[in-house]
Formats: sequence, C-alpha cells, structure tokens
Amino acid sequence: MNLTEYIDSKHDEHLNELYEFLRIPSVSAQSEHKPDIELAAKWVAEKLKAVGLENVEILPTKMHPLVYGESLRAPGKPTILFYGHYDVQPAEPLDLWTTPAFEPTIRGGNLFARGSADDKGQVHIHMRALDAIMKTAGKLPINLKVMIEGEEEVGSVSLWDFVTKNKARLKADALVVSDTGMLAAGVPSITYALRGLNYYQIEVTGAAQDLHSGIFGGAVPNPITILCELFAKLHDKDSRVAIPGFYDDVEKLSKAERKALQSLPWRANEFKKTVGAPGLSGEKGFTIIEQLGARPTLELNGIWGGYTGEGAKTVIPSKAYAKFSTRLVPNQDSDKITRLVKKHIAKLMPKTVKFKVDLLSSGNPWAAPYTHPFFEVAHHALEKGFGKRAVFIREGGSIPFVTQMHDTFKVPCILLGFGLPDENAHAPDEHISLENYFGGIKAVAQFYEGLGNLK
Ligand code: BES
Ligand code: MN
Ligand code: MN
Repeated sequence: MNLTEYIDSKHDEHLNELYEFLRIPSVSAQSEHKPDIELAAKWVAEKLKAVGLENVEILPTKMHPLVYGESLRAPGKPTILFYGHYDVQPAEPLDLWTTPAFEPTIRGGNLFARGSADDKGQVHIHMRALDAIMKTAGKLPINLKVMIEGEEEVGSVSLWDFVTKNKARLKADALVVSDTGMLAAGVPSITYALRGLNYYQIEVTGAAQDLHSGIFGGAVPNPITILCELFAKLHDKDSRVAIPGFYDDVEKLSKAERKALQSLPWRANEFKKTVGAPGLSGEKGFTIIEQLGARPTLELNGIWGGYTGEGAKTVIPSKAYAKFSTRLVPNQDSDKITRLVKKHIAKLMPKTVKFKVDLLSSGNPWAAPYTHPFFEVAHHALEKGFGKRAVFIREGGSIPFVTQMHDTFKVPCILLGFGLPDENAHAPDEHISLENYFGGIKAVAQFYEGLGNLK
C-alpha cells in the first residue's frame, strides 16, 4: 500500500483517535481544568510514543507542561521541529453550542468540538501523517523533534524561559507549525506572516466602595463611564489607533506585495458572510486583506464592572475593568508599544480616579521570506494532498513560539494551516472540515517524505 492508500484505509481510526483527544477539556485559562491539562499532556505523550518517537517526555513548566519527543535516525537528512499546542480556549458560553463542546460530532462534512481546528485537530494531522509514514516505510525520512505545549492560548508565558534554556534541544533546520488557516476552502495555504500580540488589563477605581446611585449620583466619578470615554478616544474617525507613535515603526507594504495580496483568490463577500455583521469597519486606505494581515490594531476584548445580574441594582460601581490588546506587525516592537500605550492612557485618565494597566502577555510580530527550498517541498505537498495549488498568505493571529524560534535561530518557519475562515476558533461551534483534516494528513505525510528526498 502506498502512503495515500494507507491514509485512506484508516479513515475511522484517524477520527476515533481524534475524538479521544477532543473529549479532554484541556482549557489552559481555567484552573478547574488543570487535571484535564495533565491528562491531555499524557495523551499526547502516549501518542508520540505510539508513532515511534523516542525520548518522549512531559516537561513541567511554571504553568502547564510541554510534551517533547524526537526521532533522530536519519543522518544527513534535515532536522525539523514540529510545534503545536494541546490546550484550548474556554468553551463558554456553553448554551451557544449546537452540540456540547467536548463531545465531538460530525455534521455536514465538519467535525465540531473545541480544539478541532485550534489546535488539536491540526496536531493530530501530524501524528497520523507520521504514523502513516512509519507503517508504510518503516522509518522516518527526516530527523524530527516534536514539541506540543499547553499554554499557547494564554500567551505561552513559560515558553520563553524554556526556549532560552533548551536551545540545543530545540535546534533544527526548520520549524513546522500547523496552527493557522487556509485562505478559503479549497485553497491550501502557507502562512509567511503573523501579527504579534500584547494583551493588557486595566482596572479603574473611583469611590472606595459601591455607592447608592441616587444618594451619590451626580457628584462622584463613575469608573465605567471613564473607561468608556478612554476607549472611545483610542481610535480616530478613520479607524486608526489614536496613540501617538503607534504607527511609527510599521513597515510599509511593498508595491509587489500589495499586488500579490490583491491577486489572491479571496472574496470579500464570503468574508462578510462569515463575519455576519451589518457592515465592516477597518482602517481607511487599506484593503481588508491588508487590514487583517499587515496592519496593527487595538481591540477591546472584554469590559466589566457594576451590576449585570438579574433585575436592577442602582449603584455607582467602585471599580471598572477591561481587557484589551494590540496586534502588532513588523517592525513594531512589543515593549515599545506597551510603553506608548501606558503613557497615552496615563495622559487621558482624569485625576478623579485611580487606575492601573497590567501587561498580561506580549509577543512580537513575525514575517519572513519563503525562499528556502523547504517551502517548495511544502508547496508541492499541499498540491498533492489537496489537488490544488497552494498560495502564500499573511495571517492576523499570533503564535508566540513562531516569533521566538525565528528570532532565536533564524530558521525558516513553515506554517501549513488547515483551518478555515469560518472555523469558529475561540467561539461556539468550532469545527474542522473533514476534507481539510484528511487532506492535511496526506499533505503533511507528503511533506515529510519530500523533505527526506531533498538533495
Ligand atoms: N492558532 C491561533 C493563532 C492563529 C489563528 C494564527 C489563525 C493565524 C490564524 C492561536 O491558538 C491563537 O489563538 N493565538 C492567540 C494568541 C495567544 C498569545 C493568546 C491569538 O492569536 O489571539
Ligand atoms: Mn492555535
Ligand atoms: Mn487559539
């Protein structure tokens, strides 16, 4: 049996194993799920052993463990580091899921479950591809290191420490990641740029405790109002971020790249349908693709305070909070942006309240040329797996490890993504298209084989 026939013959086995993985609610953000995180790490370690990797270890960190395994038995062949994450985003609000988040279900050619696309399904694509190679060829054609982490969705906080202390272990000729998406269904894609992310929380305090809004209202500052005023001032009428210096280091897109992005097989109408809002709002002067992949943003991610329960409670809250973030593009620097953000907020806040801004996680942007021969192998493999020519895209999401690896080792980072724009990652009804899942296994198997055949 050849590789493709073997992969086709294991259809049910692939899915049943993925279901096991998806049933573990490994939510990294919620401490009640710590045991599930441990369980998922163990599950990953077992599977890495089962596909024939050696020196498989669960490595504790300050937060959630990393899983590492390797197979270094192909002298003279490239060494590839494959990275992914086994943690998932919270599934709440649970009542918005058509079927429960941790009960994988197939509907209409898609597999629904939290983590199905981001990133367990994509990690599993690699496990199954490796298994197929092992079963058909008996050995791997390349040297492979695998690292699957458990805190990507909370900003990979322990990772930098791990990378700096484990440089020898992580050293490779290239990094391979499947934690991104395809431009559209039927358009296999290689991502060559990601935005960086700084994530902040602000706390505003007015009165020493909540106050009766009748007895006190009219004379005392309301932290929620002040927070809303603050955020209303952080964009101008052209949807540009109104923080002095914010755009100073943003790299201008070249004419050639703008043209390339313009000619991608991408439809604004489909994008609008996926978004589902009555209209779009983006930075003036840029196409949607540019706004998403090549322009920085500031987004308010959550805002709370006061009374939000049933019925009415007439209070002036003592405190108001918000979580917000900046997406960064080359050549913005995450530390510099944090300084600018904090400075501007300090300038805008009235003296009637106290406030503090905390940086919860940070990460620089990444963009790199795709000229290394490995990219040609990837391009060819995607074409074999999907029967369609692959395109090169920028994406707006962030993967801290990619930036760290690129900055540390300057190696090519090859991002083969199998999600789709409507996958609902981080939202209810997350899913992966079965066509992409099975096509992904074939493409990834071809990719590893192709790397082994490189002269
Ligand atoms: N897989 C995503 C990142 C992603 C998604 C990149 C789609 C490109 C296209 C990843 O799991 C993620 O969600 N990352 C977070 C950042 C993290 C620091 C919390 C993000 O982008 O918000
Ligand atoms: Mn992810
Ligand atoms: Mn994610």
